Order: sequence, then C-alpha cells, then structure tokens
Amino acid sequence: MPADETRPTTTPGGASPGGGGSHPAPAPPERLDGADGATPAPAPGPRALAARAALRDVPRVPGAPKPDPVLVADGVVRRFGGLTAVDVAHVEIQRGAITALIGPNGAGKTTFFNLLTGFDRPDEGTWTFEGRSLARVPAHRVARRGMVRTFQLTKALSRLTVIENMRLGATGQVGERLASAMFGWLWRGQEESNTRRADELLRRFKLDAKREDFAGSLSGGQRKLLEMARALMTEPRLVMLDEPMAGVNPALTQSLLEHVKDLREQGMTVMFVEHDMDMVRDISDWVVVMAQGAVVAEGPPDAVMADPAVIDAYLGGHHDAPLTEEGEEEQLAAAEAELEREHDREVGR
Ligand SMILES: Nc1ncnc2c1ncn2[C@@H]1O[C@H](COP(=O)(O)OP(=O)(O)O)[C@@H](O)[C@H]1O
Ligand SMILES: [Mg+2]
Repeated sequence: MPADETRPTTTPGGASPGGGGSHPAPAPPERLDGADGATPAPAPGPRALAARAALRDVPRVPGAPKPDPVLVADGVVRRFGGLTAVDVAHVEIQRGAITALIGPNGAGKTTFFNLLTGFDRPDEGTWTFEGRSLARVPAHRVARRGMVRTFQLTKALSRLTVIENMRLGATGQVGERLASAMFGWLWRGQEESNTRRADELLRRFKLDAKREDFAGSLSGGQRKLLEMARALMTEPRLVMLDEPMAGVNPALTQSLLEHVKDLREQGMTVMFVEHDMDMVRDISDWVVVMAQGAVVAEGPPDAVMADPAVIDAYLGGHHDAPLTEEGEEEQLAAAEAELEREHDREVGR
C-alpha cells in the first residue's frame, strides 16, 4: 500500500494493479451481507488527491482537454433508426481519476459505454485508449487491452458458480451461452494463475465464502461485487461501471464505494454511470454530463451540479426517475437482447 506517495498516478502502461502478489492479508471471515459498521471513514488516498490536483486547472467546458488523457473520443455518433442516441463531439478522460458520467434517462450513457468497449459499433467516430485506436475492436479484445466494463443490469451468470464466473472474466467474455462452449479450450493452461488471481479477488470482495455457490443465489449487491471482481480478472487499467449502485442494498453501498475508490488508489482509471448524486459527489474527481447524446457540461462534482446547463438537462423532456418495476423489466429485456446480439457477433453471424 502506498503510504506517503504523492506523485501523480501517470505510469503509462504502468504498474499492473495487484502486481502479482502484494495484496492485503486475507480478510477475516465477515458477514456477507456487507455489515460495514467497523469500517472507519477513510481519508482521501494519495491518488485521490493527485487526481483532483491534476484536474484543478482544466477548463469547465464540454470536451475540455485533460493533462493526461487515457481515453479520447472524437465525433462518435450512434443512430437507431431516426434517433441519434450518441453524438459526442469530443471527450477526454483523465488517467488515474474517477470520472462520473451523468445525465437523464435516455441521454445515451449506456450506449456510449457500449461503443467505447466494443459491445456496439458507431455510425461515425474514432476513439483511442492509451493512444491506440479501438474502433472496430471487439469487446473481448478491448478487455485484453486493458479496458473493461460492467453492466447496468448485472450479467453475473446465474447458472455458473462464483469461481466459474471469475474464470470467465479472465477471458474478457461475458456471454452466457458462450460460457459453456469456452470452458474447455480457452481455459486450459491458464488455470493455475487465473485461479490464484480469482481467489485473491474473491477474498478482497468478501465473496470467498460463496466461491462454489451459483451466482444466481447471490443478493443483488453481491452480484454487483462479483461483477466488479470479475472485471478485474483481466488486470484492466480502465474500469467502466454502468450504474454500480443500482439495486444494491444500502448495507452494501458503502463497501462498493470503497472498492471503487480503491481501484483508483491502485492506479486504475474509473469511469462510471450513476444516478445517485450522493455517490457522484462522494467519489468522483470529475463529472461529464450527457443529454440527448451529447456532452453538455464537464467539471468537478460541486461545480457541475450547480451548473444551469446541467439542471436544464435534467429538467428537460427526459426525466431521471428511478426505475419502476415495468421499466426494469423493459431494461432487462433490452439487456437480454444485447446479450443475444453480442453472442451472434462473437460467433460471426
Ligand atoms: N438497441 C437499441 N435500439 C434502439 N434504440 C436504442 C437501443 N439502445 C438504446 N436506444 C435508445 O437510445 C437512447 C439512449 O439510450 P441509453 O444509452 O440506454 O441511455 P442512458 O443509459 O443514458 O439512459 C434512448 O432513447 C434509447 O431508447
Ligand atoms: Mg443506461
């Protein structure tokens, strides 16, 4: 653990998180429902302070250049029929920082995540991760290059055990139907090192006691933790979280927040979509606001949330209401359709 490190977190291609062995002592067995009573409110870590310092002088305008961008997108457009879901002229994501992507429902946040991570293809546009283009790179190769995402609706694969989910994570794949087909050949040979890493992560996320349980038996919050742990199997440098708090039991939210902050302290860049403004204020170093597909504002959390353009975005046509049961079902159906499409793309149909 870096105790007094104050350098900025810019190590291009650098220190892989976890570094192959230095992890905290195994956590004592704890309640898996996430009782966090014993956790003291931690002070901001050195990387958090460095990230905020690095962003201090960035102009608070859409598309603002960053001192050390890890991800740069230009002219990314995605249309669905007559609807332009995403139309991002320019955006840069600062390395080593936690960036929140906010905006009303339907603003295009999930679609933008899908495009950046290779789960969907844009009609136009280019983007680079660590200086290399990612256009037309499929999702599992994006993951192998160091950029992974989790899903708004958790994709923990219920018919696989927790440890099997973790092993699947090592391949950068998330499709359910692919899982069974892949275990045989893709898994062989890497089993030992991957299992070691998986067990390490399960301990860190306090899921080790659930190792052999089916993911389907976990609580919503535990699935979110599993999804985050699984995403870390590929040792990413950029982690994209789509609504990590959605559906999470309040008892687990603090622990999830700390895990996200911990990713930054380990040198990772985090980008996340979230509706919970308390979480955004609490953990983000920078906030990017989308409305109707475009980036309409950027800045540090407090400034952005007081920005009239942001308030307008939230008050305009689309309301940012919490999911209703109906809405949730609709989104679930959409996510399943997404899985199907993902599978079809992978098998080249
Ligand atoms: N596969 C799809 N087919 C048609 N329209 C879609 C599809 N995915 C998203 N959309 C539409 O694109 C817009 C942006 O959606 P989305 O990216 O999910 O927004 P957000 O995540 O910000 O709520 C919405 O109007 C949504 O209905
Ligand atoms: Mg969304």
